[in-house]
Amino acid sequence: MQQDYDDYSDEDQQTWRRLVELQFPLLQAHACTAFQEGYALLEPHLRTIPRLEDLARLLERYAGWSVVAADGFLSAEDYFALLARRIFPVVPAIRKAGALRFTPAPDIWHDVCGHLPLLFDRRYGRFVADLSRRFAQAGERLRVAIGRLYWFTVETGVVFEAGGRKIYGSGILSGPDEIRYAAGDAAPVRPFDLAQIVATQPHYEDLQPFFVAIDSFDALAPLPAALERLLRGAPAR
Ligand SMILES: [Fe+2]
Repeated sequence: MQQDYDDYSDEDQQTWRRLVELQFPLLQAHACTAFQEGYALLEPHLRTIPRLEDLARLLERYAGWSVVAADGFLSAEDYFALLARRIFPVVPAIRKAGALRFTPAPDIWHDVCGHLPLLFDRRYGRFVADLSRRFAQAGERLRVAIGRLYWFTVETGVVFEAGGRKIYGSGILSGPDEIRYAAGDAAPVRPFDLAQIVATQPHYEDLQPFFVAIDSFDALAPLPAALERLLRGAPAR
């Protein structure tokens, strides 16, 4: 599919600008360093709804990733097949003005301003591609486990940095309520435990019952192989 830029209305452009204004101070305060650096590279393209071809050029040049327009209903198999090839699918549609704070459907705001900044980090990008590559070959149990690890890292992960606890999960970073909740003193943050992640059914549309912290992006590289080992050693349930 294509991003048909002329289809965006003035109201869509206004929604985009309001999202940037609403989120930018929260991102500055609570997003991890790698996110901030990637966001700064994208920022010249974020003053209006971005053109995906511009973002693709930037990511190809500086991150070794690309971007394609995708409709909102990719299967997990198709989604991970693209990520395995270092292609990030972005849904061109933008949420409605009345749903600034939350939309359960993927949209260009979540995909671009939640996910793309992190792909400039080599360690993060390698992890996403490696985890996704294993999905195609995986049996059903491992597929479920890959989906859960993806959720507790890529979508909702937190990381400890010198400045304190920061957020790298794209699902959190694209919603103001989620950021405030995850950054707050009362946020339920747990140490990283792969077995617990595998055993936990994520909450896709509510605030998270808990977050899982890593000490740095260096902790991501061994996780896909560790997940496979864990599943091989664990009894089927
Ligand atoms: Fe996402």
